[in-house]
Amino acid sequence: MRILGIETSCDETGAAIVEDGTKLISNALASSIKLHAKTGGIIPETAAREQIKYIIPVINRVIKQANIDTSKLDAIAVTVGPGLLGSLLVGVETAKTLSYVWDKPIIPVNHLIGHIYANFIEQTDYRLRTTAVDGRPSTVDITFPALGLIVSGGHTDLVLLKNHGRIKWLGGTRDDAAGEAFDKIARLLGLPYPGGPAIEKAAQRGNISRFKFPRPMIDLDDFDFSFSGLKTAVLREVKTIEQPALSRAEGLNNRAINDIAASVQQVVIDVLVAKTIKAAKQFEAKSILLGGGVAANQTLRDRFKLAIGNLKLEIPFFFPEKWLCTDNAAMIASAAFFNYKPLEWKKITANPQLYFD
Ligand code: KG4
Ligand code: ZN
Repeated sequence: MRILGIETSCDETGAAIVEDGTKLISNALASSIKLHAKTGGIIPETAAREQIKYIIPVINRVIKQANIDTSKLDAIAVTVGPGLLGSLLVGVETAKTLSYVWDKPIIPVNHLIGHIYANFIEQTDYRLRTTAVDGRPSTVDITFPALGLIVSGGHTDLVLLKNHGRIKWLGGTRDDAAGEAFDKIARLLGLPYPGGPAIEKAAQRGNISRFKFPRPMIDLDDFDFSFSGLKTAVLREVKTIEQPALSRAEGLNNRAINDIAASVQQVVIDVLVAKTIKAAKQFEAKSILLGGGVAANQTLRDRFKLAIGNLKLEIPFFFPEKWLCTDNAAMIASAAFFNYKPLEWKKITANPQLYFD
């Protein structure tokens, strides 16, 4: 079954054609991220206007790339939420129109569940798709129950996938998401938007031992997260550093920025790894799946591998290729295939607040 996926929940306009939920046939992505970098964050109206500009060219491109007639498409999948209303509407209304004109079923997809399904996309070589605990490419299949960690700009959630379509939410952030914390802290440090990749880069040259930030909720028994206190702690530190009267004052120079970035990244990763592994053990997960923009962070990926290896957990650990961690439409088409619940186009609506049932 060939599904055309459409993703427009935020500042990326994506289309992809995926066969049987796993084989990527074609993919295209346009992004307005450069515009948002100028303003230091997303302005929803700007994002929506850019979606309108890109949506038709992006869909056209994947159909051309796949070199197939649209009659060979079996269904259309579209992100219906969560996300920015104006952005979501562009994808949803386009998908509905195509569904009506082409007479194809349409499958609404939850963006967060989509992030998990990025793990199911194989590319030219299936073995390149997954990575075993020891870092070798692996052919291990994803088995259930699977523990999913979704770490994006808007969400930090732990979910248990008992099977396709049977998802139990275990916990999530009580305030800022992990990516949001990176974005806000990067701004405090004068680093560019999006903050996650900027913090990752700065952290490579930083000293993780110089600053000690709290590891929020790491020892609590639940599966919730909280990252807004980290931002406040960084703000306090930045103010101290900038006070010229203090003997250790050197200003917020590159060294201080790199050192803060290294500690911040370390703290976020410590909490994510600890809670995910605790949940995987408690729910006897047979695989761990990472998804969302923050999952592109190499240190996070390495730390997961290390922790699973050190604990000798026999749980295969999967993360998508980096470009499949951030927003894309391939993951939406994959989620639609494995959770095939078509609706009549009239019944599809965008829902910015959509969460887990
Ligand atoms: O999944 P995504 O593309 O969009 C949402 O659904 O939110 O995630 C974007 C988030 C941003 O907060 C960005 O700073 C973060 O992912 N991010 C990263 C990295 N790449 C993107 N965070 C840490 N390290 C990265 N390499
Ligand atoms: Zn996302």
